[in-house]
Amino acid sequence: MENFTYHNPTRIHFGRGQIAKINRELPANARVLLLAGGGSIKANGVYEQVKKNLGARVTHEFWGVEANPDFDTLMRAVELARKETCDWVLAVGGGSVLDGAKLVAAAVHHEGDAWQILVTHGAAIKGPVLPIGAVLTLPATGSEANGNSVISRRATKEKLAFYHPQVFPKFSVLDPETTFSLPERQVANGIGDAFCHVIEQYLTFPADGQIQDRFAESVMRVLIDVAPRTMANPRDYDARANLVWAATWALNGSLSAGVPGDWATHTIGHELTALHGIDHARTLAIVLPSLMQVQREGKRAKLLQYAERVWDIKSGGEDARIDAAIEKTRAFYESIGIKTRLQDYQVDAGKTAAEVARRLEARGETAIGEREDITPAKVEEILKLAA
Ligand code: NZQ
Ligand code: ZN
Repeated sequence: MENFTYHNPTRIHFGRGQIAKINRELPANARVLLLAGGGSIKANGVYEQVKKNLGARVTHEFWGVEANPDFDTLMRAVELARKETCDWVLAVGGGSVLDGAKLVAAAVHHEGDAWQILVTHGAAIKGPVLPIGAVLTLPATGSEANGNSVISRRATKEKLAFYHPQVFPKFSVLDPETTFSLPERQVANGIGDAFCHVIEQYLTFPADGQIQDRFAESVMRVLIDVAPRTMANPRDYDARANLVWAATWALNGSLSAGVPGDWATHTIGHELTALHGIDHARTLAIVLPSLMQVQREGKRAKLLQYAERVWDIKSGGEDARIDAAIEKTRAFYESIGIKTRLQDYQVDAGKTAAEVARRLEARGETAIGEREDITPAKVEEILKLAA
């Protein structure tokens, strides 16, 4: 195991009725910027609960943070926060709203071009960052308990991520009932995203991180177990509660401590979203099975462990077991209604493969993956295989 420093500062309030806790978490004199998406929180009663618990606090609302939150939209929220001297950001919604809140919180006191926060992956953040609270309504990204944010810039067809320890939410409310209103497509996206988060931190090379490995395998097995239950019966509280908590665990920093990480599936996937607007989780489902195939030698030992411990594949030669595990992974995505081929999204694999490789090359992302051996040429190979 490698050395690591582990600290997760987010206080989680989990369960029914926990939105009431924001009244305790926010100072009575807080000047709150409430950030929200396109209106789902009005339709499902979450907004009403939040308003009630904000009480008399000065609150300014900013609506319209879109899925794959857009830089230009968020800069308008920054203007509002500056004008009204807000000193807290309360994100109410899915991962996009939470990620948006992180950029807003970091940009309010940032001098100069805030896009530099993305270009430098967070290193440009120098000034104070506003404290963030969150009410999460979509289990998927883990943004409720991590320091990551992924921001799109439609004007330039870019999608970049940043990390900063100061943008962990101070608190997050996770009430599974707030997710009952999710359309099937978003529930599936959440399951698919969370599963891939675990894979990115697990399916690398052995580092003898036994806690990390066994925890990762547990999270994957829970996702495999609850996926059909929560899709078939969206109001099954226990199934949904397990999905919500699994998605948080998939990306709250516990699984990655002291072990190598891959993240190439995400890096390539972000390009597919930037170019073709495909939902984040769906880009992962397209890239992941092909990436496992192309990287099977470097990942051999962990692929065999994954086959045995996650999918109970115990018989057959090594290559047959690896093939079966890759097939199980693809079938899992397909089973929740997520297509795994570029052609399913009317995308020309040859052209897109070349374009993504060119874009990564231009950004200097020429050695990605846990062994830094995924070159633009390999990215092209992976995407062609995903045709
Ligand atoms: O905008 P509203 O009206 O709220 O509707 C949203 C949106 O249309 C809707 N929704 C959310 N909660 C709902 C609901 N509809 C009904 N009932 C509810 N309870 O769902 C739609 C999608 O929401 P979004 O927030 O975009 O989804 P998700 O949570 O999957 O977030 C995706 C974004 O997170 C980034 C992705 O790249 C993408 O931009 N990621 C962030 C990560 C992180 N911060 O650590 C890691 C991930 O790998 C990921 O990259
Ligand atoms: Zn993801």
